[in-house]
Amino acid sequence: MEPPVLAFTLWIFAFLSVPAAGYPNGKVREACSSMMPRHEHSPQPSPEHTISVNETEFRPGDHIKVSLSGPVFEGFFIQARNAENLAGPAVGSFMLAEERISQLLTCGLVKNSAVSHTSKSKKTHVEAYWIAPTDAPEHVQFLATVVEKYKIFWVKIPGPVISQPNAPPLTTPTSITPETLPTSQPVFHLTKSFNASGCGITKFCIRNPPKCDPGTAYCFFLSFKQNNHSVLIEMSGPSEGYIAFALSHDQWMGDDDAYLCINEDHRINVNTAYLSGRIPPVLDSENGLEDISWRLADGLVQCSFRRNLRLPSYKGRFNLDANYYIFLADGEASEGLIHKHHRQPLITNGMYNVTDSPKDVGGSRSPLLLKLHASLMFVAWMTTVSIGVIVARFFKPVWPHSLFGKEIWFQVHRMLMLTTVLLTSVAFILPFIYRGGWSKWAGFHPYLGCTVMALAIFQPLMAGFRPPPHAPRRQVFNWVHWSTGTTARILAVVTMFLGMDLPALNLPDPWDTYTMIGFVAWHVGIDILLEIHSYCLIRKVEVIDEDRIQILQSLTSAEAEGHTFKEIVLTIYICGNIAFLITFLAAIHQL
Ligand SMILES: *[C@@H]1O[C@H](CO)[C@@H](O)[C@H](O)[C@H]1NC(C)=O
Ligand SMILES: *[C@@H]1O[C@H](CO)[C@@H](O)[C@H](O)[C@H]1NC(C)=O
Ligand SMILES: *[C@@H]1O[C@H](CO)[C@@H](O)[C@H](O)[C@H]1NC(C)=O
Ligand SMILES: *[C@@H]1O[C@H](CO)[C@@H](O)[C@H](O)[C@H]1NC(C)=O
Repeated sequence: MEPPVLAFTLWIFAFLSVPAAGYPNGKVREACSSMMPRHEHSPQPSPEHTISVNETEFRPGDHIKVSLSGPVFEGFFIQARNAENLAGPAVGSFMLAEERISQLLTCGLVKNSAVSHTSKSKKTHVEAYWIAPTDAPEHVQFLATVVEKYKIFWVKIPGPVISQPNAPPLTTPTSITPETLPTSQPVFHLTKSFNASGCGITKFCIRNPPKCDPGTAYCFFLSFKQNNHSVLIEMSGPSEGYIAFALSHDQWMGDDDAYLCINEDHRINVNTAYLSGRIPPVLDSENGLEDISWRLADGLVQCSFRRNLRLPSYKGRFNLDANYYIFLADGEASEGLIHKHHRQPLITNGMYNVTDSPKDVGGSRSPLLLKLHASLMFVAWMTTVSIGVIVARFFKPVWPHSLFGKEIWFQVHRMLMLTTVLLTSVAFILPFIYRGGWSKWAGFHPYLGCTVMALAIFQPLMAGFRPPPHAPRRQVFNWVHWSTGTTARILAVVTMFLGMDLPALNLPDPWDTYTMIGFVAWHVGIDILLEIHSYCLIRKVEVIDEDRIQILQSLTSAEAEGHTFKEIVLTIYICGNIAFLITFLAAIHQL
């Protein structure tokens, strides 16, 4: 947790006197906007505390002393706002006067734009300095929330207005009516979590992770239940800001019908929007939704509503009885605006007709480009490189004949290795295209990946300039060629282990790790088998040709047998290798 967030969590903690574990950063911005302690009590009507300042005029960069005083209080929260837009964001920043009892908080985008208490100690007077920003509005008003006790508090106590020199007189009235909490809960208030008992039987469900229970803290859940001409929609998921789903004709954002449940000051507003492109949605003022209910509990946002199959009188609402890709997104919300989802939205793997036979489906948060990246890398570093190395290591004596001017083993080796380099190069570019640059959140994976890429390019370049077979430097080449290749393969396996667990690929954990360990074991096992076999073969040949030990290149009956054995092992190896490969490709593409 960043310090300001932590401090703010503590602030809320003091207001509430309940464990703060359930207030991570998302709610911070909302309380920043409402200045309302999360509370089941209503604020007091007439303020008893006063805010004063030591100047009435300010210029950008000025320091203004702000004081809050009155009857003994425990908590406070001070902000400056544009006097002509008191519902807007905090303006300017503060500097502390008394670090023991006060601290700086960050509201919205402005650092240190609010001051609050550090503990519940009793106080009657606090001070801080407000620093006017360069882009300050003409009139600034100070607002304070004061908590006397748990149940007794005042919200947005209006303070003095200060103005820039020569500013026209303030036009809007400065008095504001403090917002009041809803005294009664909305009529349609959900009392418990949704359940998945009818999924695939009476309702169409989308769950992520697959088959999760919508009551748990990590489950994203969306269901459609048709009832004559209307559809009941339930959506829930862990979020501090908003959760949303959209119906789309394609797998890209844009031209979509979206439904959003937005947490605004601890109330959920259910909205619709037509998404015209990759820009923040403009919420519709009217939507055809009925029976709206919601619940905010245990870190989950839950909302349900009903809409007709067809809503021809509302622009932007799609008919529900058609095929769509369905997106499920979540993100932060503040001041009624939603922020871009900071992780990939879930997208169903196919188009579905939610009013057709009920299904229970999952989806994927993994973008196509990254799936392709992973697939190509798996083909390259699991299959082509492994077979290519085995061929070079064990099949020189088996396939010595010439094909297009070179030995067969060499042709096969070169083809597989060049394929590996080609696949790696293509796959390497894809994440950069997807991210539009370097990926900061992928740990060591990209660094190792770049090393592997460099080695993979170096290897064929070096091989192109290799010395002739009997030149003295040939041994050096052989050794460097072998060690570069081996290093690249080991690093590639490590890179794959790291990459598999990245969220953008979303492979089932720990299945992926075990399967990969299985593959490594399979490969090493076959390698060892062939090594042992070669060793035994040499011994056998040595025994048969006691006189001529240098016989290794000539065909004896023992060697012929050995060749058949090697070919069988290679065939079995390739089958196993491809089985592993297909398993991974199927998992990546969630087939
Ligand atoms: C108000 O307080 C600020 C900060 O201490 C100071 O720089 C300024 O001179 C004060 N103004 C007056 C009129 O005292
Ligand atoms: C699931 O919810 C429905 C109502 O939405 C209710 O009728 C049913 O009893 C619930 N099932 C379980 C297992 O809680
Ligand atoms: C569906 O509509 C019919 C007649 O229009 C009505 O009798 C029935 O109760 C409705 N079903 C439900 C579940 O509302
Ligand atoms: C979707 O399913 C409904 C109900 O089975 C059906 O009437 C409708 O034609 C389907 N739409 C498409 C586009 O298949």
